[in-house]
Amino acid sequence: MSGFVEKPEPVQVPGLTHLHTGKVRDLYRNEAGELVMVASDRISAFDWVLPTEIPDKGRVLTQLSLWWFDQLSDLVPHHVISTELPAGAPADWAGRTLICKPLDMVAVECVARGYLTGSGLLEYNDSRTVCGLALPEGLSDGSELPAPIFTPATKAAVGDHDENVSYEEVARQVGAETAALLRRTTLDVYARARDIARERGIVLADTKFEFGFESTPEGARLVLADEVLTPDSSRFWPADQWQPGRTQPSYDKQIVRNWLLSPESGWDRASEQPPPVLPQEVVERTRAKYLEAYELLTGKSWSQETR
Ligand SMILES: Nc1ncnc2c1ncn2[C@@H]1O[C@H](COP(=O)(O)OP(=O)(O)OP(=O)(O)O)[C@@H](O)[C@H]1O
Ligand SMILES: [Mg+2]
Repeated sequence: MSGFVEKPEPVQVPGLTHLHTGKVRDLYRNEAGELVMVASDRISAFDWVLPTEIPDKGRVLTQLSLWWFDQLSDLVPHHVISTELPAGAPADWAGRTLICKPLDMVAVECVARGYLTGSGLLEYNDSRTVCGLALPEGLSDGSELPAPIFTPATKAAVGDHDENVSYEEVARQVGAETAALLRRTTLDVYARARDIARERGIVLADTKFEFGFESTPEGARLVLADEVLTPDSSRFWPADQWQPGRTQPSYDKQIVRNWLLSPESGWDRASEQPPPVLPQEVVERTRAKYLEAYELLTGKSWSQETR
């Protein structure tokens, strides 16, 4: 079992048509035909959208994505049109709402990995490959790879696992030319972001991008969409504690995952039961991690940003 513990009702705003409730974002269309993307404070773990929100999380993800879009704009165009709040929207949408170009989304999660961990490590231990790509002997949890790799995955519905797919499979699905463009752009953007993060004391171990096509008079153009380089879409590790050969501490949902797996939560991941409400202390520590990642990367103070 997985999915939403409690599926939220979409907010009704005059002039906006609700399109989709994602794990974290709610999508609407405005009267101009633009996409209105609202990042909620929802958090997911182990394929469940938890019944507890992390206050300000959606704002942190939105502001961090905006900052990154700006850092990357010479490499790839992005989907943001404006941050203007739609007329009649709830005040709570401020800071978490983006007006975006509606794109023809590519149904591939474009993952770049510069370091070995997670599902990549499991496969490596088994076969010395990650997503079928051969890697040298002697790597361990947290090792930097000889060069970053493109490890695409299919996009699963809410409650399902994304599944790694080979590059050849992507080429079959989207065509050889688009597959090559996705791989090149993913690796270029990763390399830029990795270097920026490294200067700020963060190891960008891996990250996931979503792209879509915009039609222009000159033809279809690849555009970077969704959220980018946030703690939800990436693994960020504190660089001063990076030490291959063990699980790295990280700026993400690790606190939540650890608590859910601890006896204290009383939850059995293998059971059919939905996960429980998070204790206040876990909520606060998680919120602090998201804010810390934002502040370290952007060099801005969160309280000044939002007051
Ligand atoms: N410019 C865009 N045009 C069309 N769809 C977009 C655009 N940007 C993002 N999306 C889509 O908006 C949705 C955002 O919802 P959300 O981030 O909650 O994602 P999800 O896919 O349900 O979960 P997860 O991010 O955990 O995989 C995604 O389905 C994404 O593909
Ligand atoms: Mg998403």
